[in-house]
This record gives sequence, structure tokens and C-alpha cells, in this order.
Amino acid sequence: MSMEKIAVIGTGLVGRSWSIVFARAGREVALYDADAAAAGRARSAIAQSLSALRSAGLVADIDAIQARIRPAKSLAEALDGAVHAQEAVTERVEVKREVFRDMDSLAAPETVLASSSSTLPASAFASELAGKRRCLVAHPLNPPHLVPLVELVPAPWTDPEVVRRTKALMASVGQEPITMLKEVPGFIVNRLQVALLNEAFALVEDGCITPEDLDKSITHGLGLRWSVVGPFETIDLNAARGVKHYVEIFGAKFFELLKPRGAPRPWAEQVVQEIDQARRAVLPLAEIPSRQAWRDERLTELAALRAGSSKE
Ligand SMILES: NC(=O)c1ccc[n+]([C@@H]2O[C@H](COP(=O)([O-])OP(=O)(O)OC[C@H]3O[C@@H](n4cnc5c(N)ncnc54)[C@H](O)[C@@H]3O)[C@@H](O)[C@H]2O)c1
Repeated sequence: MSMEKIAVIGTGLVGRSWSIVFARAGREVALYDADAAAAGRARSAIAQSLSALRSAGLVADIDAIQARIRPAKSLAEALDGAVHAQEAVTERVEVKREVFRDMDSLAAPETVLASSSSTLPASAFASELAGKRRCLVAHPLNPPHLVPLVELVPAPWTDPEVVRRTKALMASVGQEPITMLKEVPGFIVNRLQVALLNEAFALVEDGCITPEDLDKSITHGLGLRWSVVGPFETIDLNAARGVKHYVEIFGAKFFELLKPRGAPRPWAEQVVQEIDQARRAVLPLAEIPSRQAWRDERLTELAALRAGSSKE
């Protein structure tokens, strides 16, 4: 069986992680970056991540995986023969516009063009293209080789068949695609994150909790439970007769909590500073990279645990 080729365009933090996702699932990966030195940096970062995955028992033959990831000298070479291009370049609309214009003119008509953009919908950078129907956003969480969720965000003009193919590809490489039914700013994950952050900033600003304890409410509470059941399933399981019953008991009381909040408050400089100081007291700026590595080790352990237990 000949293996599908995937082009990864942009080899920064996200692009290099994407290449692990595709290569460990047996795909050939062509890596392209406008900065020639970036490919070399990506290579050593990929090697490090792969050995961490092997130590956790998540992959076996890392040499074979690494051998499937090859740098390309040009965008055209990367796209040649690719079924899917996963763009992960700098988050600036003019950069996305240029890269999508070039990809659309160079790639074979059947190649799907997917952007990793966190904030820009395809409508913002691909609407003028002859091949706009093959463009969409496939937004990962960082790093995608450890966090499987991918938000698929088609523009109104994206071909449904392109969405279907992208969904099938993502599922076949072990990711968990969710599909938006329409484009909204922030997609799903960042809308949820911003709602939570908004309340978190307000609780600290109002002197209700310290930043450290606020974080614990998620890591030892909500977040722990959410890694097994989502918010709707949570409430379904927390009342004897499910969602309707839960809303009967708590709906009106919970709505009262929201009312005094009114319109969202700007995140005031003072509270941002307070939270920043609290974070710097436990983590000096220089230690952020080692803490990121620590986070990825914990995520790797969790991935190993989840791979070993039945998911359903
Ligand atoms: N960092 C995150 O947490 C995260 C999470 C999800 C999605 N994303 C999205 O992924 C994308 C990449 O983010 P990142 O954090 O990896 O950025 P990054 O800065 O680490 O990497 C971007 C890479 O793109 C390259 N590049 C810039 N212009 C290019 C061009 N014209 N052609 C080819 N390569 C080019 C740069 O040289 C760089 O290596 C962004 O759209 C971002 O919104 C980021």
C-alpha cells in the first residue's frame, strides 16, 4: 500500500508537532519553512519528542518515524503529490493570505489546504482563491501530538466533501476532530477558554481567591473531571434524572450567579499584574521552557494511560 503524503508548511512549535502526528501514523511528511534554518531546529525538536514518546511506550520504531519526515527545498516540492497540506505559519493574516495563494496555485486540485490558525477563519485569507472550496481551518491544541482535539472550521464556501476527507484523515491519524457548523470568531475551544478566564480574572480581582488556588480549582477539580466527561455529560450524570432534572434543580440558582456580572469587564492591568506576579513568584520567566517540557511529560503519561484504557 502506498502511503499518503502530507505537506506541513511552517515548522515552528505547531508544525513540528503535526509532523509527528502524521509520521507516527505511517504517513510520509514533507516539511517546508520559509526560514531555511527552521527545518534543522525542527528536526532536533522532533527527535526529542519522539524519544519521550518511546520512553512512555507510545511509539516503537522512532527511526522509521523520523525517516518518514523529510525537509522540502521549496513549497512546490513539499506539495508535490500531497493529499493534504497542513499550514502552520505565523499567525498574521497577510502571511496566511500569501501562503494560501501560493499553495492554491502550486498544489494539485485535489489537495486539501488546511490552516492551523487559532484566530483566523478561512474566510479571512482564502475567499479570493480559485480553489477556495478546498480550504478550511483545522485548528489543533498545542502540542497536537499530545492533545488530540482538532477543530475543523469550514468557511461557508468550503466543499462538504473536503470537510469529510479532513475529518477522516484526522481520525485515521489518531486525532479527535470536531466540526463547526458555522464560522464564529474564537471557534469553540477559545470561546470556552475565554469565558472561563473572564470569570477567573473577576474572581481574583474581587479578592475571592488567590491565582494559585484558582488554578487548582481546575487541575484538581473541573479539569480532572472534564478529561473524562464533557460539561454536558457532567450535568447529565450529576442529577438522578439527567440534564432536565439538573436544570430543574440548579438552573435558576446558577443563572442568578451570572446576572450581577453583566457585560464582561476588561481584564484590568492591575489584576493581570497581580496574576503575573503570582506566577513569576513560582516560575521565573527563564524557567518557562523547562516547565513546558514538564507539562509535556505529564501529558505524555496521560496519553499513555488513555491509550492503555478503553476509551468508551
Ligand atoms: N502556539 C500555539 O499554542 C498554537 C496552538 C494552535 C494553533 N496555533 C497556530 O499554528 C500556527 C503556527 O504557530 P506556531 O506557534 O507554530 O508559530 P511559530 O512562530 O513557532 O512558527 C511559525 C513558522 O512559520 C514559518 N513561516 C513564516 N512565514 C512563512 C511562509 N511564508 N512560508 C513558510 N513558512 C513560514 C516561520 O519561519 C516559523 O518557523 C499559527 O497559525 C497559530 O495560530 C498555535
